[in-house]
Amino acid sequence: MSAATTGTEAEAQTPPGLLTAKTVVITGAGRGIGRDMARAMALSGATVVVADVDLGSAQETAGLLPGTGHLGVACDVTSEESVSALADAATEAAGGIDVWVNNAGITRDRVMRKMSVEDFTAVLQVHVLGAWLGTRAASARMRERGGGSIVNMSSISGKVGNPGQTNYSAAKAGIVGLTKAAAKEVARHGVRVNAIQPGLIDTDMTRAMPPDVLQEKIGEVPLGRIGTVRDVAHAALFLASDLSAYITGTVIEVSGGRHI
Ligand SMILES: NC(=O)c1ccc[n+]([C@@H]2O[C@H](COP(=O)([O-])OP(=O)(O)OC[C@H]3O[C@@H](n4cnc5c(N)ncnc54)[C@H](O)[C@@H]3O)[C@@H](O)[C@H]2O)c1
Repeated sequence: MSAATTGTEAEAQTPPGLLTAKTVVITGAGRGIGRDMARAMALSGATVVVADVDLGSAQETAGLLPGTGHLGVACDVTSEESVSALADAATEAAGGIDVWVNNAGITRDRVMRKMSVEDFTAVLQVHVLGAWLGTRAASARMRERGGGSIVNMSSISGKVGNPGQTNYSAAKAGIVGLTKAAAKEVARHGVRVNAIQPGLIDTDMTRAMPPDVLQEKIGEVPLGRIGTVRDVAHAALFLASDLSAYITGTVIEVSGGRHI
């Protein structure tokens, strides 16, 4: 967990009240960016349904959130039944879904010469099929209530392409197309669909990089620092809230200006 996850400075920057009386579902929120997003949304007043393929981590996250009524639920985003059950559980427990974040993700990095078809399809399944199933289930429920906000986690990797990530870059670019097409389909029902493309973010993944490689990459960031999980969570909070009421089908880059 990064310093920003628990740091009082980042906590103080999270605006209270933006999501009062709103119910938010976040997939893959058992750890990492999703967990911090759950915390930021809860700090801003939301009831959060924390979903993860790992039930224990989902329940742990839900238990750590400020406020009451949060729920930890098992959900495999690649399963139609599982995603549908998550939408039902959230509707039943909280009376309806206002915000749904498709955040669950995996990587299977390898150069193409060594990448198997299984490595390729596993990544496409979790990101593209997972986001599609989530967007479909959430928008169906939201349109019944007159609106809602869906946030999809893409990546700068889907914009510029990364060697060793042909599967992940394809999936993250696919999420952008899915976001724009879905936004056009459901706008007339008051449902907004947007995407976030994080860049270099302080997570377990970047902490595992050799320090010199990490420093070189940070040197390419115009704002001169690595991003925090809370930087990403705040973009999600903005897209989730009514502050972004006139914004749909867009992609917000949370990259400190790298790769613009
Ligand atoms: N970490 C970064 O720097 C970075 C940068 C750009 C984009 N992203 C994207 O942000 C999202 C979160 O990344 P992270 O770094 O927090 O990842 P992470 O690996 O720390 O967490 C991902 C979570 O998703 C869950 N998950 C995996 N497969 C699942 C499935 N089939 N169903 C439900 N849950 C599943 C995992 O159990 C885990 O809790 C991902 O979509 C990732 O691609 C991350």
